[in-house]
Amino acid sequence: MPDAPLPIDRDSDGTVMSEIGQAPATSPVLSADQGPLVSVRDLVVTLNSANPVQLVRGASFDMAPGEILGMVGESGAGKSMIGTALTGLVASPLAITGGSIHYRGRRIDRLQGEAMRRLRGREIGAIFQDPLTALNPVFTIGRQLVETIGEHLGLSGQAARAEAVSLLAQVGIPDPQGRLDSYPHEFSGGMRQRVVIALALAGRPSLIIADEPTTALDVSIQGQVIELLRDLCARRGTAVMLITHDMGVIAALADRVAVLYAGRIVEIGPVAEVIARPRHPYTQGLMDSIPELGRRLPRLRQITGAMPRPDALPPGCAFAPRCPKVIEACHQAVPAFDADGPHRAACIRTDARVLAA
Ligand SMILES: Nc1ncnc2c1ncn2[C@@H]1O[C@H](COP(=O)(O)OP(=O)(O)OP(=O)(O)O)[C@@H](O)[C@H]1O
Ligand SMILES: [Mg+2]
Repeated sequence: MPDAPLPIDRDSDGTVMSEIGQAPATSPVLSADQGPLVSVRDLVVTLNSANPVQLVRGASFDMAPGEILGMVGESGAGKSMIGTALTGLVASPLAITGGSIHYRGRRIDRLQGEAMRRLRGREIGAIFQDPLTALNPVFTIGRQLVETIGEHLGLSGQAARAEAVSLLAQVGIPDPQGRLDSYPHEFSGGMRQRVVIALALAGRPSLIIADEPTTALDVSIQGQVIELLRDLCARRGTAVMLITHDMGVIAALADRVAVLYAGRIVEIGPVAEVIARPRHPYTQGLMDSIPELGRRLPRLRQITGAMPRPDALPPGCAFAPRCPKVIEACHQAVPAFDADGPHRAACIRTDARVLAA
């Protein structure tokens, strides 16, 4: 694929935007010593109502360039909210009220309007659950791709069409040249999601937020789309935040996984480690069944009750009322992480420092 020169555009603070992520499609994955791609610290997202409610309560994690980070947890845990915060789409009545998000060392959680719009798509792409919401039904997919390519890469005319054909070919659309003039409804669900992946890749982003990218697809097609996403991102060195209920998808695709419960990350670590040796009792419940592609979060059979609503959290550990390992101290304070290493859980029952005290 030709590497077109990117137009130089400056953000309001004078930063040259094309300096912070113009890695060509074939660039090798940046080495870890160049710092994290994304660094989220103590992120708080609040629903501003008469009584403000925190929906994300102090999430912290890094993502390395090219890394796939899975976000898993029950419905309402706050997975999409974290993805939304990274794409700069948190809108009233929701607001980021605490913490920070850095992208390539630059703070982005306060970017607004045009500056955020430029970052989105060009640096940070998004793939959502329903491909139809990402596609405009009244325009051909060729037009949508060419527009996106023009906006983010500054290509027009034949060059933009050629790039659109190349993208469609890369996502496995047969007869890509001929399909440029098709409308979204003329594609099957699986093919539509491939088109959405092509659109998300069009700006050659360094990070893609994929929120339930295969949930709306037939199980038989899910595996193909997952493999496609994994292979394309590996080849391009694109990092992916993969939001899903499906532990099988996480096991097949992610390098690391963060487990969310009631707005907090309760465990984070390398996927193989977390699956083999889950530390938090909640994660242990989740991992109770053998992950395989297409299997959604199992019901927490041994753990009764439901995740509390964000406006009705119990004191201390939010999981304590359902936890088979609960002790009195669990109700006293929100637990900190039990370790500083790559695999850590927010649980006093696994914290050697607390157990030793
Ligand atoms: N626009 C909104 N206004 C008010 N509350 C919201 C809004 N969007 C989400 N919430 C609430 O924020 C919490 C976290 O929601 P979020 O969509 O991030 O969950 P999720 O983990 O992605 O769940 P799911 O698996 O169902 O997609 C939930 O309690 C949800 O009801
Ligand atoms: Mg969601």
